[in-house]
Amino acid sequence: MKMIDVKNGPQNISRIVLGCMRMPALSTEEAAKMIETSVELGINYFDHATCYGAGDAETRFGDALPMTGIKREDIYLQSKVGLHFDTMEFNWSKEDILKSTDEILSRLKTDYLDALLLHRPDLLYDPEEIAEAFDELEKSGKVRHFGISNTTPMQIELLKKYVKQPLVFNQLQLSLDQSQIIDQALYLNNKTTDMSIDRDNGILDYCRLHDITIQAWSPLQIGMFKGCFVDHPDFPELNEKLAELGEKYGVPKTAIAIAWILRHPAKMQVIAGTMNPDHLKDICEATKVDLTHNEWYQLYLASGKFLP
Ligand SMILES: NC(=O)c1ccc[n+]([C@@H]2O[C@H](COP(=O)([O-])OP(=O)(O)OC[C@H]3O[C@@H](n4cnc5c(N)ncnc54)[C@H](OP(=O)(O)O)[C@@H]3O)[C@@H](O)[C@H]2O)c1
Repeated sequence: MKMIDVKNGPQNISRIVLGCMRMPALSTEEAAKMIETSVELGINYFDHATCYGAGDAETRFGDALPMTGIKREDIYLQSKVGLHFDTMEFNWSKEDILKSTDEILSRLKTDYLDALLLHRPDLLYDPEEIAEAFDELEKSGKVRHFGISNTTPMQIELLKKYVKQPLVFNQLQLSLDQSQIIDQALYLNNKTTDMSIDRDNGILDYCRLHDITIQAWSPLQIGMFKGCFVDHPDFPELNEKLAELGEKYGVPKTAIAIAWILRHPAKMQVIAGTMNPDHLKDICEATKVDLTHNEWYQLYLASGKFLP
């Protein structure tokens, strides 16, 4: 496994994270097996959110962990707050952040989170309230590190005006199919392609500049959640290239798709969402691969992008 130390954040954490969004589909025994497999593969970082299965992902994990013999202090637990699909609103109020964090701790059966992220911007967010909530959570020892998710540079700047804790993670969508955070740099003000549209105000370089570790979510998905592009008939050129490089490095195609994200010099984490132990083993093979500069470009172009 490849590890990183996050500046002002957790140390020696795995570059591959197990994302637990799909864990509600597992029984508690299956969830325990998934956690054990992760740790055997060198994964020590687990991502949750209050909205995954409306809390069921955290409950399943909290029930499963004691069955594994893995100690709480040997792994990192992260969760995200703010999304309420039950009431159809996003909420970053102080009251909601504090209440949601208490509920997370109770479901995960732990007394602290290694990291708490704000999941997606609440259109009514007040950074002063967020600062108060983070102060309380830090002071009580309930949360050790803070971050954001799906958030732009200006939103982070506004938060930083009031929040005194370093924001050390930003969770963003990135895969060979959904590579917008990378694409726009090639085309800037060119009018001939939508690839020039700056959809996030330069969040990739902003995060690098401010030591915010990007956590790439849905690293294998087509679109939002349309399934995995590996072995998908709509991506023949990409699958051919994944297979060719997979053969060169002696790893499965999925490993090459994940290695493409790991190769980026921003040193991102990848949040893998599989709930199949064999698929997770394939994904972790990515950490044995160091793609060359040119291979990174070959994959990018095979995914349907083009150079100006
Ligand atoms: N911050 C945000 O807004 C946000 C949004 C979405 C997700 N996330 C985080 O990111 C994590 C990953 O998201 P995701 O689940 O969409 O990511 P993903 O890893 O791109 O997709 C996993 C899905 O692809 C399927 N799949 C099919 N073939 C596969 C193969 N050969 N190898 C691996 N998977 C294969 C998996 O099925 P099997 O289980 O059968 O392998 C699973 O259903 C989530 O768990 C969550 O923690 C964050």
